[in-house]
Amino acid sequence: MKLTVIGAGAVGATTADNLVRRNIAQEIVLLDIKEGVAEGKAQDMMQTAALLGFDSKITGVTNDYLQTAGSTVAVVTSGLPRKPGMTREELIGTNAGIVKSVVENLVKHSPDIIILIVSNPMDTMTYLAFKSSGLPKNRIIGMGGALDSARFKYQLATKLNASPNDLNAIVIGGHGDTTMIPLIDHATWNSIPVTNFLNEVEQEEIVKKTMVGGATLTALIGTSAWYAPGAAAAAMVESIVLNQNRLFTASVYLEGEFGEEDINIGVPVLINKNGWERIVPLQLSDREKELFKASADAVRNMNTVLKE
Ligand code: NAI
Repeated sequence: MKLTVIGAGAVGATTADNLVRRNIAQEIVLLDIKEGVAEGKAQDMMQTAALLGFDSKITGVTNDYLQTAGSTVAVVTSGLPRKPGMTREELIGTNAGIVKSVVENLVKHSPDIIILIVSNPMDTMTYLAFKSSGLPKNRIIGMGGALDSARFKYQLATKLNASPNDLNAIVIGGHGDTTMIPLIDHATWNSIPVTNFLNEVEQEEIVKKTMVGGATLTALIGTSAWYAPGAAAAAMVESIVLNQNRLFTASVYLEGEFGEEDINIGVPVLINKNGWERIVPLQLSDREKELFKASADAVRNMNTVLKE
């Protein structure tokens, strides 16, 4: 089993590091366009093998797609990250060209590949990857909701003084500061609604903090975050490799589900050896349906930039 990570920057290297430690693939290829960066980071990771006890082999390459041939899954993190004050959407011009060419190269060498898109604006980049790859829709998955849901659980856990592992909470919709929808009315603390423990002001505060979670970190760090994004991408890859059938919010191509079509946006799906399968239906309130529609409209509007 071979896995590929494109982009050896902050998120790509962290994803590769998470994957290699999991020991779930014989080979991981880390590819970057910058000469030497992927080679250096891969060697650094290999030097942790004797300390961490894994047997997976990680190889770094500079733009050599032949080395990725026969990959089961690729994670695409290549492209610019945002700087403080920037939205994810402002990255579209540069990242669209990068994502399109990366996806074409991947498919050329691994025609049965499953591709996980991380590069922002993620929903639009995932839609672009689907349209330009010619792959079946279930083989193109966008990573955003898995991260946003983990951030939602972090905010809930902090407020409730709970273990994040006892919380069930998901974020659906677009992966943007204003488009994501943390479903607080569906969130539970070991099956007990979290709304039993939080007043309306506290609920609103948690939702708001979740939505600006990425921007908050960008302001603190000076560039966008990588630990949780890398962990989220690796967890999704693991679910594919081990056929775990875990339920994640992921950006997938809709054909009428949730009242939307011809769009990639975050909804709950099962992730397994076939990529994503079965969009899991949710009973949304009228208010949540309105928010989902507005989110889809914003994502669709962003997608029109691709046609210009
Ligand atoms: P980074 O700047 O640290 O790394 C990006 C890497 O991509 C660089 O090493 C660069 O050389 C490489 N690259 C650029 N063009 C390439 C090409 N054509 N082929 C191969 N490699 C290429 O950025 P970082 O922080 O790793 O973020 C990567 C992307 O992921 C950004 O677009 C960022 O906005 C996005 N992101 C998405 C998240 C999500 O939840 N979907 C979360 C965090 C970041």
